[in-house]
Amino acid sequence: MNLICIMTAQGNGVYLESNNIIYTAVFRIQECGFFLLTAMGYKSFDSYAQEYDSWFIENANVLESEVKLVASCLDNAGEVLSIGCGSGLFEKILADEYGITIRKGIEPSAAMAEIATKRGMEVMIATGEEADYGVEKFDTVLFNGCPCYMQDLGLALRKAYASLRKGGKVVVIDVPKESPYGLIYNLALSVGTWDHPLLEGCSPLMPYPIELVKQANWRTTSDKIEMIKQAGFEGLRFSQTLVASPCYTHLQVEEPCEGYDKGSYVAITAYKY
Ligand SMILES: C[S@@+](CC[C@H](N)C(=O)[O-])C[C@H]1O[C@@H](n2cnc3c(N)ncnc32)[C@H](O)[C@@H]1O
Repeated sequence: MNLICIMTAQGNGVYLESNNIIYTAVFRIQECGFFLLTAMGYKSFDSYAQEYDSWFIENANVLESEVKLVASCLDNAGEVLSIGCGSGLFEKILADEYGITIRKGIEPSAAMAEIATKRGMEVMIATGEEADYGVEKFDTVLFNGCPCYMQDLGLALRKAYASLRKGGKVVVIDVPKESPYGLIYNLALSVGTWDHPLLEGCSPLMPYPIELVKQANWRTTSDKIEMIKQAGFEGLRFSQTLVASPCYTHLQVEEPCEGYDKGSYVAITAYKY
C-alpha cells in the first residue's frame, strides 16, 4: 500500500491507494476527535454511475421529496451553474416538471458527466475545487448532494461567490452529519456494510450504495454555515426535507419546510449583495 498524498486544513485528506482502490480512512487528529477523511470521492461514481441513477429512480418518493426541496430554492434562479451535477437527473426533472432550466454543470466523474451530457447539459469535467467558474457570469450556483464529496468546500464556495452577479445566490444542499440520515450513514460506514445487526430494522428500504457512503464526508450544518459566511455570502435561509426516519422516508413524498433542525436533506440559500 502506498501513501499517495497528504493535505491539511479544509483539504483534510490523507489517502491510501493499493491496486487502484482508493481507501477512505479514519484518523485520530489531536484535539479534534475523529475526523473522517476521504479523497477523490468522485472515482467511485465512475463505476457506480448507472447504479446511482437507477437507485434514485427506484427510490421514487425520496427522489421527489428531494427534487421538491431543490425546486423550492430555485425560484427566480436566472442562469444557473450546477456543481457536482452528476448524471443531471435532478436537472432533467426540474426542467420537465418545474420549468427550471439548468444548462451548465461541473462534474469530475466522466461517467456521470456523460449521462448528464446525453440529458442535454453542457458539462465541464473537473472537480468543484479545480474548475474555473468564471467571474460574474451566473445568477445561481447550485451544490446539490456534492458538498460531502468535496475536499475543499470553502474554496468552491469562494469560486461560486466570484462567479455570481450581484444579487445572485448560492444553494448548498446536502445530508447534515447530525441528521438521522447522516448518523445512520456514519454508522453503516463504521461497520462497513448495511448488512449488520445494529442496522437491522433501521436502515432505509433501499440504502445508498455502501461504496458511495464510504467516499463521503458529511459535514454539520453549522460547519457549512461558517464556510458560506466566510466566502462572503449573507442573508442565509434554510429549508429541509426527509423529516421522517430513514426507514420510513420511502413511504411518502414530503413537502419541504423551513429550518434545518430535523430534516435529513437540508438546503442553505445565501446571497451575494
Ligand atoms: C450524490 S452525487 C449528486 C449528483 C447530483 N448533483 C444529484 O443530486 O443527483 C455527488 C456528485 O458529486 C460529485 N463530486 C465528487 N467529488 C466532487 C468534487 N470535488 N467537486 C464536485 N463534484 C464532486 C460526484 O462525482 C457525484 O456526481
